[in-house]
Amino acid sequence: MSTSLIRLTRGVPPAESFPVEQIKVCAEAVLDSDAARVLQYGKSRGYPLLRDTIARETGADPERIIIGQGSLQLQDLVARMLVQPGDVVYVEEPTYDRTLTILRRAGAHVIGLPLAADGPDVEALEDRLKKGERPVLFYVIPDFQNPSGTVMARQKRERIAQLSREYGFWIMEDVPYRKLRYRGEDLPTLWDLAPERVIQLSSYSKLISPGLRVGYAIAPEGLADDLAKMAEDTYINASYFNQAIVAEFIRRGWLEEQLARLKALYLPRLDATMEALEAHLKGLATWHRVDGGFFLGITLNHDVRADDLLRAAQEANLRLTDGRGFFAGSGGDGFVRLPFCSLTPEEIHEGIARLASVVRTLAG
Ligand SMILES: Cc1ncc(COP(=O)(O)O)c(C=O)c1O
Repeated sequence: MSTSLIRLTRGVPPAESFPVEQIKVCAEAVLDSDAARVLQYGKSRGYPLLRDTIARETGADPERIIIGQGSLQLQDLVARMLVQPGDVVYVEEPTYDRTLTILRRAGAHVIGLPLAADGPDVEALEDRLKKGERPVLFYVIPDFQNPSGTVMARQKRERIAQLSREYGFWIMEDVPYRKLRYRGEDLPTLWDLAPERVIQLSSYSKLISPGLRVGYAIAPEGLADDLAKMAEDTYINASYFNQAIVAEFIRRGWLEEQLARLKALYLPRLDATMEALEAHLKGLATWHRVDGGFFLGITLNHDVRADDLLRAAQEANLRLTDGRGFFAGSGGDGFVRLPFCSLTPEEIHEGIARLASVVRTLAG
């Protein structure tokens, strides 16, 4: 253990979380009951049974629900549909690195609003709007944010929803970790608060398996048809077979069981992360309490250069993600994302102890 490489890099579910036997049963069941449909092309909005399931759970009109090959496929379509080159798009800073790539590729001028323990800086948001800046879109991850693990406070949700109406920007709300709450109570989603301004994205990647590539968007009236048309013109439809497996999994009541299993697996890993931080990095870094999801973000207290940090970590047999990738602007040198779900508590303790010794050396 003390010499093997520890990867504090990949935010993927561990193989032991996959409900392999149950997926086998579901695959067989959908082939028995609906082979002609699940093995055929279909309408771009997605497999009707899964859309109905999501509609029942969320209260959304099934016509506004579009299922994609993972939520990222839809995120890319939304970005390409709404963003014209040069358009301003706001993100939380730090934010999910792949979304920054998607937005930039669509031509967005991406501006980061600093993220605090309770969500993005809404005063900065309001200031920019009052000064006349007109974003087309604000991308937020309100529940167990990637990469920080933070949850947006209720008042901030309400304020952002209100500002989106007042200033006419869209909110792209990404909630793939929302159901992985290990402690505390759910808050309303932005979609609950302003369904006419919010495109909500969610996913079964972190709940069942990313390999199924099943995610969805709930889009406001007016956008849903355009999104479905764009999907159809691009790839016809995402895999009905995979969507049917997810629908069957939920129909059998297995998602609830699976969530309970995941929480039992991940909570000790989150606790180990918090304990190891307290034990090794107190005074060297700051972080927020995390209550769910996959990640905890820390900021080092001393100025370091990301290149030096990554190199020193590599020499200590520790792999870190480059913190700069999560920042729209020039920050992120001293930011470290700690994904805790794929590591055992022992690996977490060892990884964070190594990180602390690297940071101590760099801080001189
Ligand atoms: C915030 C966020 N959005 C989207 C995704 C990817 O979702 P999907 O697998 O549904 O494409 C991830 C995966 O890490 C994520 O962290």
